[in-house]
Amino acid sequence: MTIAHFKSQFYQGTERIHFNNGGLAPISLPARERIHYWADRFYNEGFFTDLDYVENVKTSRRSLSQLIGCHDFEIAFFQSTASAVSQLAMQFPLEPEDEVITWAEEYGSHLYPWQEACKRKQANLILVNSLENLSTPINLIIEKITDKTKVIALSWVQFLTGARTDIEALGKITSERGIFFFVDIIQGLGLHPFDMKKWKVDAVAGGSHKWLFSPVGVGYLAIDQKHISKIKPHNVGSYTFGTCDDPTSLECIPKLDALKFEAGSKQVLEITALGASVDLILKTGVLNIEQETLRLASILRLGLERNHYQVHSPFKVDHHHSAMVNFIPKAHSIEALKSINCNYAIRGPGVRLSPAAFTTDESIQKVLNVLK
Ligand SMILES: Cc1ncc(COP(=O)(O)O)c(C=O)c1O
Repeated sequence: MTIAHFKSQFYQGTERIHFNNGGLAPISLPARERIHYWADRFYNEGFFTDLDYVENVKTSRRSLSQLIGCHDFEIAFFQSTASAVSQLAMQFPLEPEDEVITWAEEYGSHLYPWQEACKRKQANLILVNSLENLSTPINLIIEKITDKTKVIALSWVQFLTGARTDIEALGKITSERGIFFFVDIIQGLGLHPFDMKKWKVDAVAGGSHKWLFSPVGVGYLAIDQKHISKIKPHNVGSYTFGTCDDPTSLECIPKLDALKFEAGSKQVLEITALGASVDLILKTGVLNIEQETLRLASILRLGLERNHYQVHSPFKVDHHHSAMVNFIPKAHSIEALKSINCNYAIRGPGVRLSPAAFTTDESIQKVLNVLK
């Protein structure tokens, strides 16, 4: 499927410019259609949909597993990234004095669960500062590894400026040293190619509402099968166990796969819409999406620099950048963006713009023109 077709599957209006896709991206047309489809069926059929919606949740899980590079039975759905990270962090077998390493500029939904887990277990959270330009080279992390390091937990792409950590290179080191490697992939999955098994990542988590172009409200945890039995479910309910339809039975057998982490009923509309968007991404090809997004982001970046804006996002440092362009605004920059109904985020050192593959060249030019 071509990029032109991909673009046609998104909002075509001219009254808004969606440049906060690193915050909340618009959903794709297939995602919207899937929600309408299930809303109609639930209205008309209620419980008669039972087998069909369960099957559609399965196909969404399968599609997501292709994008992540893991098995479908290694994925559990949650309501947010925070709950997916909490499942792992709170139940991870940390001992007093163990060390967990992460970047100092991490997003709260990733940072706070590890911070809280360390506090509860008297383990130590080691915060590593990024460089002055906020890039995140792995040698800074490697320098902090000691024989007490149990977990390296970091975001693939940092939310402030789009600095991207070389996960494949770090995965080689963590796997050699027997360190559990966890990555929050929400700011990169769907935008850059990812391969959990090949890159030797033990677990990942993320959410639906950014580069997967699907409704807010789904988090996921993918955990390598060799670790599943070691992590207890954080939330427990009727879905924790096998086919436990009889609430009086005490013979329920715990599930052996990641589905044991899903305690109860799921967000069917959101999860099936997620699957529809992921299928669109798979059909278009992540490499095509990455190429187009980085092309647009670099036009934006170069245009801003030409207009003497200071841009903070790392760029072309071994390609460890992403689609975000974080720049220091001038006196009227915010008003200028508002005047064309362009959304943005105030993040870290400046204003963060994050175009996506559906963005048009015209909208990039429109933004550059008002920021002149
Ligand atoms: C790195 C990172 N993790 C997680 C999230 C989202 O977390 P949650 O799904 O808990 O709202 C964001 C986005 O806001 C993010 O940038």
